[in-house]
Amino acid sequence: MDIKEFIRNVPDFPRKGIQFKDITPLLANGQALRFVIKSLADEFRDKDIELVVGPEARGFLIGAPLAYELGAGFVPVRKEGKLPYHTLKGEYTLEYGEDKLEIHTDSIKKGQKVLIVDDLLATGGTIKTVVDLVEKLEGNIVGLAFLIELGFLEGRKVLARYDVRSLLEF
Ligand code: PRP
Repeated sequence: MDIKEFIRNVPDFPRKGIQFKDITPLLANGQALRFVIKSLADEFRDKDIELVVGPEARGFLIGAPLAYELGAGFVPVRKEGKLPYHTLKGEYTLEYGEDKLEIHTDSIKKGQKVLIVDDLLATGGTIKTVVDLVEKLEGNIVGLAFLIELGFLEGRKVLARYDVRSLLEF
């Protein structure tokens, strides 16, 4: 299946000069959605993943079905002030802004096998923050999975120590 067909390029969103990769056409197509979740799961199916960790908001849309497909649990990483219990915080710079992310302090047990997931790898700032939070909780990061990778932003460079997989590259 050519999943590129289901990714809509939106110029100048959310700011001038940004070519936004809109995944809503893919999410709205049952076959395409199932194909991408199964394809990402196939990359890590034999790795005994216990937890999938994904950042708000689009990381949830890919991460929760991927966790289900792998028979793993899902741990949300959220923007500041959204998680109700004790949290660890990390700051990051985005392709178009800055933000803070949080994870519940009791969400990962030491040594648990973790797969980190997001819809898109751009500069890697978001996912590096998630990586640091998982490492502080002593999770065992088995890999990182993305639907889309913007190769020209070289996000992979900040993730060089990890097994990074993406389904589509622009
Ligand atoms: C987007 C995307 C990734 C991140 C990638 O999220 O979903 O999480 O940017 O960029 P980076 O590799 O340069 O950090 P965004 O912050 O727009 O949040 P959203 O999913 O809540 O819209």
